[in-house]
Amino acid sequence: MEQVSMVPVACLDIQPNHAVLDMCASPGSKTGQVLEAMQIRLFQGEIPSGFLIANEPDLKRCKVLAGNMKLFSSPCIMVTNFRGEDIPDMKQGDGQPLLFDRIICDVPCSGDGTIRKNPNVWNNWNPARGNERFSLQLNIARRGVHLLKEEGLMAYSSCSMNQIENEAVVAQLLEESEGLIHIFSPKVRSLAGS
Ligand SMILES: C[S@@+](CC[C@H](N)C(=O)[O-])C[C@H]1O[C@@H](n2cnc3c(N)ncnc32)[C@H](O)[C@@H]1O
Repeated sequence: MEQVSMVPVACLDIQPNHAVLDMCASPGSKTGQVLEAMQIRLFQGEIPSGFLIANEPDLKRCKVLAGNMKLFSSPCIMVTNFRGEDIPDMKQGDGQPLLFDRIICDVPCSGDGTIRKNPNVWNNWNPARGNERFSLQLNIARRGVHLLKEEGLMAYSSCSMNQIENEAVVAQLLEESEGLIHIFSPKVRSLAGS
């Protein structure tokens, strides 16, 4: 995995006791990174008390995700198959709503940030490719905000450089939240050697 694609999860300071949701998860590179953080003390016999729900709406990609996650043999992951914007309300054993400490919202996008390694993206690029994804990206991120605990953290990311797909989505979320959500400046631990 490229180091830059590890940044969103690295910003979240994921702990073994966290409830984590990965909203757009396949093929699972960020999901795997989350699991590694949650299972950091597994070899000392400590099974994480938290859990991770990895969601992917596309059935084929969901199967790829499930296959990739199987390799981790993890006791704390579940794979689901919803559209991110429609992830249902869930309840805990005590009937309280299930909300998440950490959410990864790595949305489907135009992919124009990957042109360096995939030149075909440039051949097919036009302004609409990014602009037309704004509503979907916003709807997925909105659902994420609703599923977040107070004091929780959500990383919004895409592999696009288009401000409509990035800054505009975040700006709209901030405006709608009327001060309930804030941009957080994390201290990212070095990714070198990971
Ligand atoms: C950028 S990729 C995710 C990459 C993944 N997070 C990783 O690091 O390996 C975006 C994913 O979002 C999925 N997707 C498409 N529409 C979606 C929706 N409405 N809700 C959630 N995910 C969606 C795509 O099928 C794709 O697998």
